[in-house]
Amino acid sequence: MAEKARGPRREPVASAEPDAAADIGVEARIAAGILLNAALERRGGMDEAQGFAEIRRLPAPDRAFARAVAMAALRRLGEIDQILTRRLKATPNAAVMTILRIALAQILVLETPAFAAVSTAVKLAERDAKTRPYKALVNAVLRGIGRDGPGITTPESNLPDWIAARWRATYGDTALTGLALAARDEPSSDLSLKPSADALALASALEGHVLPGGSVRTAKRGDIATWPGFEDGDWWVQDAAAAVPARLLSVGPGETVLDMCAAPGGKTLQLAAAGATVTALDRSETRLARVTANLARTGLTAGVVAVPAEDWDDTRTFDAVLLDAPCTATGTFRRNPEVLRATRPADVAKLADVQHRLLDVAADRVRPGGRLVYCVCSLEREEGETQIIAFLRRNPAFRTVSADPAAIGAPDEALTPEGWLRILPSMWAENGGLDGFFAARLERAG
Ligand SMILES: C[S@@+](CC[C@H](N)C(=O)[O-])C[C@H]1O[C@@H](n2cnc3c(N)ncnc32)[C@H](O)[C@@H]1O
Repeated sequence: MAEKARGPRREPVASAEPDAAADIGVEARIAAGILLNAALERRGGMDEAQGFAEIRRLPAPDRAFARAVAMAALRRLGEIDQILTRRLKATPNAAVMTILRIALAQILVLETPAFAAVSTAVKLAERDAKTRPYKALVNAVLRGIGRDGPGITTPESNLPDWIAARWRATYGDTALTGLALAARDEPSSDLSLKPSADALALASALEGHVLPGGSVRTAKRGDIATWPGFEDGDWWVQDAAAAVPARLLSVGPGETVLDMCAAPGGKTLQLAAAGATVTALDRSETRLARVTANLARTGLTAGVVAVPAEDWDDTRTFDAVLLDAPCTATGTFRRNPEVLRATRPADVAKLADVQHRLLDVAADRVRPGGRLVYCVCSLEREEGETQIIAFLRRNPAFRTVSADPAAIGAPDEALTPEGWLRILPSMWAENGGLDGFFAARLERAG
């Protein structure tokens, strides 16, 4: 589930050019509504809907605009609905709500000129028998908001209630507000570099900056395949927090490493770039194709094995094992706002069972004296701290080796009293934040 498979190409994001949006028509707004509703209906819905004929037949800038609008609406859904609720005497049918949500995402988030957002919303309402009777209402509501302003909204409303309640209980009120604020805006892109690449030069070419761990952060958008160094395989896209666990494993040249849930491969590339002899294992052949493609582009090498870890009939043990386990991925909401809508409370317990099982499989692969890093991009304790507490009870041969956040590009405040890392998306807020991760480094007795 975590770390969605995404191709390297990103279309130009129309949100960066508000005026251009005035020339984009009704079809793109329809597409935005389809994408938004698909994301609200099912996990992976937005990616799936990108394949629908109504979306595919649009010109690339319209498709990019539709996606930007849908993502903005998804990120600010709670606030958008707060604004609309104040204006509506009764909730209109779902199709009308979609038109209003899409229009408000354009006006409030993407800074689309209001005349373009309102006139396309009214035209959209006109096209369908279900929405035609509400044409005047759509016009009046949007013009009213344009005239009077949106009014006060609370960022916490963008989080589903059950998730907000969970995070409040786990992290407290102040952290919850920080998390809600981190969920509102589209994040920058972070790039991990091969050791031979020049981070300062890349940062300067992309008008970005170098982060403490060495990743380059850029607000640039568009087709990453055209950025300097992509063709040469100098870097790959990887959130700054996602780059921390492989550094925590601290592998050196010649060491044998098992990356036990490897696809799409960001951490495999880091481990291979550090000179280790890496085996990249994953149960999904489709996702492993991304690992193979990334290895080819970067000129790095790793053995690739497609099999569920528990069924792997190989008896080797390794100097180091990385288990980046499947999880709810709730820590990735900045990049994938869908996770907040698609995750159900029961998923946490279901995935915690899988993690428990995979941790024991991973432990068997660590040679005496070797080390194990367990990580998840989830903010749920059951998938992080609770797993490690239970694992250490079951496996007395293992002990925690405390992390040194400064040495591996993690925020200092991420260090827990136990020596694990609990990175929250609200950390480094002044610098654009980072994904949420839990990571623990364990060592097996010799
Ligand atoms: C969080 S993702 C891994 C992300 C990857 N480490 C990276 O940095 O790009 C989890 C992966 O676990 C894989 N997976 C799930 N169950 C597995 C199992 N039983 N054995 C091996 N891989 C599994 C999934 O296919 C998925 O690719």
